[in-house]
This record gives sequence, C-alpha cells and structure tokens, in this order.
Amino acid sequence: MKHKPFLATLLLAAVAAVSPVRANQPDSVYLFSYNASPAHGLAFAYSADGKTWTSVADGAAFVSSDYGTWGREKKMHRPMLVRTADGTWQLTFMVNDRAPQYAIATSPDLIHWKPQDYPYVESFEAVKKQFDEAEQRLYQTVTVNGREFCGCVNRVAYTQVEAMQAAKDAAAQRGQRNGESLADDVTRFADLKDRPLKATVLIDGTQRKAISDKLIGIFFEDINYSADGGLYAELLQNRDFEYNERDHGGWNATTGWHAARPIEIKTDHPLHANNPHYAVLLGDTLWNEGWDGIVVRQGKKYDFSMFVFAGGQKKDIRIQLVGADGKVLAESTLKTSGSDWKRFSTVLTAKASDTKARLAIIPLKGTRVGVDLVSLFPQETFKGRKNGMRPDLAQILADLNPKFMRFPGGCVAHGDGLGNMYHWKETIGPMQERKPQRNIWGYHQSRGLGYYEFFQFCEDLGCEPLPVVPAAVPCQNSSTGGGGQQGGIPFGPEFEQYKQDLLDLIEWANGDPKTSKWAKMRADAGHPKPFNLKYLGIGNEDLISDVFTERYLPLIKAVKERYPEITVCGTTGPFFEGSDYEQGWRLAKDNHIDMVDEHYYVAPGWYINNQHFYDQYDRSASKVYLGEYASHGPGRKSTIQTALTCAMHICNLERNGDVVAMSSYAPLLAKHGHTQWNPDLIYFDNERVYPTVDYYVQCLCGQSQGNEYLPTAIRMDGPDRANRRLAASTVHDTTTGKTYVKLVNLLPYSVETTLDFAGIDVPAGTMATTTVLAGAWTDEQARPTQPATLALSAQTTLSLPAYSFTVIAF
Ligand code: AHR
Repeated sequence: MKHKPFLATLLLAAVAAVSPVRANQPDSVYLFSYNASPAHGLAFAYSADGKTWTSVADGAAFVSSDYGTWGREKKMHRPMLVRTADGTWQLTFMVNDRAPQYAIATSPDLIHWKPQDYPYVESFEAVKKQFDEAEQRLYQTVTVNGREFCGCVNRVAYTQVEAMQAAKDAAAQRGQRNGESLADDVTRFADLKDRPLKATVLIDGTQRKAISDKLIGIFFEDINYSADGGLYAELLQNRDFEYNERDHGGWNATTGWHAARPIEIKTDHPLHANNPHYAVLLGDTLWNEGWDGIVVRQGKKYDFSMFVFAGGQKKDIRIQLVGADGKVLAESTLKTSGSDWKRFSTVLTAKASDTKARLAIIPLKGTRVGVDLVSLFPQETFKGRKNGMRPDLAQILADLNPKFMRFPGGCVAHGDGLGNMYHWKETIGPMQERKPQRNIWGYHQSRGLGYYEFFQFCEDLGCEPLPVVPAAVPCQNSSTGGGGQQGGIPFGPEFEQYKQDLLDLIEWANGDPKTSKWAKMRADAGHPKPFNLKYLGIGNEDLISDVFTERYLPLIKAVKERYPEITVCGTTGPFFEGSDYEQGWRLAKDNHIDMVDEHYYVAPGWYINNQHFYDQYDRSASKVYLGEYASHGPGRKSTIQTALTCAMHICNLERNGDVVAMSSYAPLLAKHGHTQWNPDLIYFDNERVYPTVDYYVQCLCGQSQGNEYLPTAIRMDGPDRANRRLAASTVHDTTTGKTYVKLVNLLPYSVETTLDFAGIDVPAGTMATTTVLAGAWTDEQARPTQPATLALSAQTTLSLPAYSFTVIAF
C-alpha cells in the first residue's frame, strides 16, 4: 500500500487573517478548536483577550469523523487545526487507538469541508508519535463554559466567527422548517378550518417540454431477505452448506438443517472450490426447514435436485415434503450412483397443502453419501423461469410498471471491506461455481439470484437493467478487514483486472457470442441475444475521498472510451447536501459524467419545504438519478404522511424531468421477521405480500408516466404555508396518447379545485378516470379507490379530499 507524506502540514504555522469589521467589534479574535468527546467532532470557542472564551454556536460540531463503521468508529481523537499558507484550513486527527492511519480534512472557511481522507502510514506507533509531537507544539489548555479542553488556538477575523455562527443558525432554521409534520396541522391550519378552500390548477399545453421516459423505476437490493428467502423462489435455506459465523453470529454449515445425530460436514472432496462444504448422509434423515417453513400447495409441482457424491456405489435416497403434523405431502426416490459428484433431480407433486412443511432426505440404501447444492423450486415461478422468481412478489413489482431496475445494491454492491465487494463474475455460471458471499446486512447471499437472473428479470419486467458496480472502494462505513475504504483496490494488476471486469460486464451483456468469450457465456446460459445494456452505475453513495476519486475517474474513463454509448451513472454520496454531495457534483461537472446517483432519506417536512430543489439544477450538467429516497416519519412507518410527501416529490421530479432522468424509492422489499431497515415499499412473508401506502403512490405514479411535461401550476387563495401543501403535475405519453394529471392535497381539509386547460383540446364529453388515495395522516392501511369516471371540460371542477393523492388519466 502506498503511504502518503506524513503529517507534513502539521508543521505549518497558523496565519492570521484580518478583515474590516464593525466599529464596536474586535477586528480579530483567537479561535480555539477542540473536541469535547471523540464522538462529537470539532467545536470552537473564541476570545478577544485569550483568557475569556465563548463557544461558537453553543459548541456545535463543525466537522465530525467519518472513519469506519457506526458505533465503534467515527471518532475524532486529538484534532489539530492549522491554516496553510494559501489560507486553507487543515484538520488532522487520529481515528482510533490502533489503525496505521490518520484523518485529514480541509476547508476554505471552517464551514464547508472537503470529504475526509485516511492515509496509511507505516504503523499506529508512527501515527501516535507524530500526534504526541504535534500536541507538544500546538496544544493549549482553555476553559470553555467552566470545562478545560486541550486544542489549537488560531487567530482569525471576527467575521469568521460571525459567519460560523450564522451558518449554524441557518442550518437550525432549515432543520426546523424541514421538521414540519402533519401532526401539527390542526393548530397550523386552524384558521382555514371553516373556510371553503378553493384552488385552481392551470395546465398549459402550449409549453410542453420533453422529459425522461424512464423517470420511475425500482431499486432491488438484497436487504431484509429480499433475495434468498424472498424474491428468489428457492425454498430451501442454506442449500449449499456455506452458511458460516461471518455471515451471522452463531451460524455454521448446518444452520437450517437438522438430523437425529450431529450432521457431518466435510470439505475434502468439494463440489467446487467456490462451494467447499458438503454434508454426509450417515443413515439418519436430513431435514431442511426452509425459510421458517416451506409453503406447499396441493396439486403443485416442485423441482427437487441435489448433487450427490456416491463414492462409486448405488444408493437410494427418498425425498419427502413433510407437513408440520408429520404427514407426507409429496415424495419421490432418487437412485443415485457414480464415482464423483453428479446432479440428480426429481419432481415432487403435493397431495396436500401446508405452510410449515419441511424437506426430508432419507437415505434408504447405503450410507456415507455426500450431498450438496440441495434445491427445491416451485415450478410456478414468474414467467415460468427455471431458477426464477416468486410469482406474487415479482408480479407486485411488475405492477409498478418500472422503467428500469437498479441492482444489486446499495451497500451490498460496495460491500463491508475489500473482501466483501460485489464482483459480478462471481455470480454467473452454473450454481455450484457461483461464489456465496456474506451479506453486509447480516446474512448470506447464495448468489442463486445472480447477474444473469437480474438481467433476465429486467427483461421479464420490460425494464432497463441498471447494474451498479463498486468504484473499486468498499463502503466508507466498513468494519471488516479494517476501517473505511481500506485504501481501495490496490493499483497495479489488481486494479487493472477490476477495470477489465467492468468492460467484460458490458461485453457479457451486449457482445456477440461468436466473437466474445463473455458473450458466449451469456449465450450458453440461455440468452444468445444481447441484453442491450444501456446504463452502468459506478459507485454507491461513497465517501468522495482521494482514494475513491483516484479509482472512480479512471473506471469511468475506461468505460466511456470503449463503450461511449453506455450511460455511466456516478455517485454524490448519501445526502442531499454536505461534503460528498458537493464534491461528487464537482467531479461530475468537471469530468462530464453522464448522470449521478443522489440519495436521501429525509423527514416528510423536507419534501414539503424543498419542492424547488431541482428547479435550479444546471440543465447543461450531468443528469440526476435519484437512486434512493424515502420519507421517514415517526416510527419509520409507511403512512399517508410519508406516501403523500413522496407523491408531492414525484410531481416536482416530473416538472424537472428534463434534468432528473430516473428515480427509485428505497428499500423495495422486506420479509417480516427478517427486516434490517424500515420503512420498505413492500413487506412479505412466505405466503403473502403486504404493499404499503407508499407502494400505492409508486404504483399510481409508475403507471402514469409520460415523456412530455405540461407546465402545471396549482394555487389556492390562502397563505403560503397552505399553498406549500399542494402540488400538481401533468405529463403526456406521446406513444399511447394518454395524459395524466397528478394532484396532491396535503392539507387536513378538502379543496374544491378547478382544472383549467390551456392549449389542450378537451372536447365536451371527454371522459377521464380518477383514482384517489386518501386517509388520516397516520393511516398505514389506506388504499387507492377503484378508478371512477370524470367528465372533462376546458374547466373541470373536482374536490381533492383532505390528505389525498389524485391521479386523473385521459
Ligand atoms: O437502501 C438501504 C441502504 O441505504 C442502501 O444499501 C445504501 O445505499 C443506503 O445507505
């Protein structure tokens, strides 16, 4: 690993900056930087005389450690703040008591900070020695609010302190505004209670603009058991005997399996190097419990298969599906033989139903049989695909009418440490050759749902695939294998191979099997025609550090040089503001990156108060993919409040559909009892799916997408705080000729609304349909009405119920 020049800048003297101020104020002051506790970050106090100190912004942190995982890490020790000769502020600090790394962050004004870097040095002892020495030179002890702290003292213009204070005040005000909640509406809108509320919606058909026809899609990540145990229809758990302690504390190769005696697990004659563990049948029945039980339906057929290592002898093995009460629901006998691993299969037809069935593997003749990759699939999968998707879950996704699907993550894509990154090549080919991987969300990825299946599923949904590959750095919050981005994939052969892997992915997806080895693999797997990949995501909400940038830009360059037709989507960090967002956008603009992926999970009030977020975006710069967003209300539940604020946001995205090219709510799926994140769009168990209120907003919007935006202005005769609670958007689909008007009323009262069409021919007798989603703001069960008919005219009136989302289609 390449070491950076170490802490050279700690030697720089602080340079005073003096600028004119008001007559009754000091022109310059001492500025003391310290951290009250390692978890807190860097705070400031100032003093005119160097004796009496006043904290800046009540001791708020202006920059905090972003190193490593949450909880244990993200600590700042012994911060040293100096000003370099060019006026840049430079902060260095120790990240913990063991890493051979330190943190460095720079700022032009102590308010805006560049993303942190964590250079490696020869040892932790070397880090400590340097900080010991720097402390001797730079630290002073100062009393702030009666407590003594050690830190650095610099001299600054007093206006610097004022600017810092003002920045925190403005942030607090923004926070208060964005905290607006529907819970306060009774008092907030008491003055409107008994007033008839009237609004006008002006829809201007003369000023249409082209917008993205891929605005709403889905983001699939294997979180909350979305893949194994979820969408991927495999009914057996730990079918490969590859579960282990690293996947999840207490797990091992026999998790999910049972037998009367301890199950023997061996590795000396593996089915494949990527699947080293297998079980040995010793004469006892081997049971698999499935994913909290197996749902078996009477009359349905199930494909069973497993690899058997019979050691050159003939062995008979009975396979049964057994109900919770011990009744045999289906059975078949495999006659196995052969001197090496061989796959055997049979079809089980269920005589009865059970929701908590188990699979039994019963050795009849001969023991000591190796078994691996034991699989049970319902024949009914989405579109009847072998190794396919659970039909009810797939269908509910199809109903969203997604225009694209982003996969495989999220954090699953960049992984928890260098060893946990998602490498697409590990997920294709025969099942036994795929490499299982620990899931960053605390479980196991069998990789049965791999890149081939993702691409095929996109095709089955009729949407564009949008794979996301890591930018050669793991998640900045990594804990495994070291902290943070761990220096990224080392430059040299490893990085070159990684770059090649990205190019190979495009070749695999789009190439000609006659000329390309990768395309031939796709064809051999059953898809000779190209998948027609158009988009490639590089990076997932990464820390935009130097380690990241040095890898990200060459990867993008390599893809664009070889495949200029591919739209590359970069990343701008995990928030809608802040250092990664700023730096991510700077990189995008300077390097003309086609599109960038923005993420934000924010409170409902953010959506109400940031309706013009994209209106000011530079139309000549990179396009936006809002790859992950959701409205997070109290208790992280999906309610009318969260759903309608997202509906409001979608209206604003449509208005900005010339710069926002794509969007996807996140996360998508969550299995009851196995959920790491809330809220999610769709919950499920083994038997049923439970769409949320947010699902219905995504569904209504997904089914009413267009490629033209018609300027739509909604206005009521009322105060701004009420007008902010209304949103409207109109789009037209030139391929189907359909027009959709979306209307959001986030007020606690109904609003009588007149639609005023200008430049749109609405002959008398034009019939439209209206669908309405409404409820109390806390409602978790609200469902859209059945579409009703509405007679349209140049001026149409309708009532928007309190807390409602209405879609008009004609
Ligand atoms: O959507 C859940 C997670 O949120 C994603 O994995 C990650 O990208 C984001 O932090």
